[in-house]
Amino acid sequence: MNQKNHNKGIKRREFLKTSAAFAGTAMFMGMGTSRLFGATGLPEVSIENVTLNNGVKMPILGFGTYGLNGEVCKDSVADAISMGYRLLDTATVYRNEEFVGAGIKQSGIKREELFITSKVWVDDSGYEKAKKAFQTSLDKLGTDYLDLYLIHRPRGDVKGSWKAMEELYKEGKIRAIGVSNFEPHQLDDLMAGFDVTPAVNQIESHAFFQQNKAHAYMKPHKIQMEAWAPLAEGRNGLFTNETLAAIGKKYNKSNAQVSLRWHYQRGIIAIPRSSQNAHRMENLNIFDFELTESDMRTIAPLDLNKTQFPEWS
Ligand SMILES: NC(=O)c1ccc[n+]([C@@H]2O[C@H](COP(=O)([O-])OP(=O)(O)OC[C@H]3O[C@@H](n4cnc5c(N)ncnc54)[C@H](OP(=O)(O)O)[C@@H]3O)[C@@H](O)[C@H]2O)c1
Repeated sequence: MNQKNHNKGIKRREFLKTSAAFAGTAMFMGMGTSRLFGATGLPEVSIENVTLNNGVKMPILGFGTYGLNGEVCKDSVADAISMGYRLLDTATVYRNEEFVGAGIKQSGIKREELFITSKVWVDDSGYEKAKKAFQTSLDKLGTDYLDLYLIHRPRGDVKGSWKAMEELYKEGKIRAIGVSNFEPHQLDDLMAGFDVTPAVNQIESHAFFQQNKAHAYMKPHKIQMEAWAPLAEGRNGLFTNETLAAIGKKYNKSNAQVSLRWHYQRGIIAIPRSSQNAHRMENLNIFDFELTESDMRTIAPLDLNKTQFPEWS
């Protein structure tokens, strides 16, 4: 998306205003982000919503929870919510839904202010099993509906799972349904046989695997792209990459912030995960600068056009 169109897009979209009472403000001042501080002396962070193909609004930046477990997961989720994250991403296979649920409870925030995603794992694929897995996810999370439920991988009885999910969606137990790790032909298969077009496809995407073809396919089909591993988990030296660092230097931003801003300006939802308060704040603090078209063009050739997670393919 070029900058002009992107800016138009922002105007059209709804802004979710969240006032965040950050701790550790000194660190932020040190990072040159003091202009985020409002009259109250507290920073204000606005997380834009995107509108999914069924009209549901979803924050464009959220919090991933893969690999977080137990107390660390609970405290990380509660802390993320307290600083302004509203989109939380979990999955049956992460075995942490109860801790995500405990973190939500600890935060004290109203359920309707959050956007909770979970995913049905391959072992639970199929009509009956998917329905059961969905209820287990609800019970563990301590909620009676999900904002987004995804088929985690295009394996097993995908069509049986989708039938179950369509029913749950029509019953109002899920606000939007989607998929993850689906290639265009797998999206085509699903769209051919069913009423509901996936609202989201969550796929690996970061500076080293930009997924331009997949993105170009999804856009006209109104399937929102969501990036998992938006920081590539730091693989291939993302946090020290010199190209990203040179861009970040101009704005006093880290490689993580440049990466997340890049996703944002492409209109792609990103869900960075961190077990550290300082990183969580850093990752949220991307709305006070803008990458130029030239910056975006400089990042484009970093694309290696292949997964950085071959062990998961
Ligand atoms: N659908 C799927 O198949 C799928 C697959 C993978 C992931 N996901 C989802 O996507 C989310 C994000 O992906 P991910 O967790 O794999 O990877 P990621 O968000 O790209 O990277 C997380 C790693 O980056 C570090 N980090 C985070 N912020 C940082 C910062 N500002 N500076 C330096 N290091 C930073 C974290 O370490 P610290 O903890 O030390 O900060 C952690 O090791 C997951 O949590 C999960 O919810 C989905």
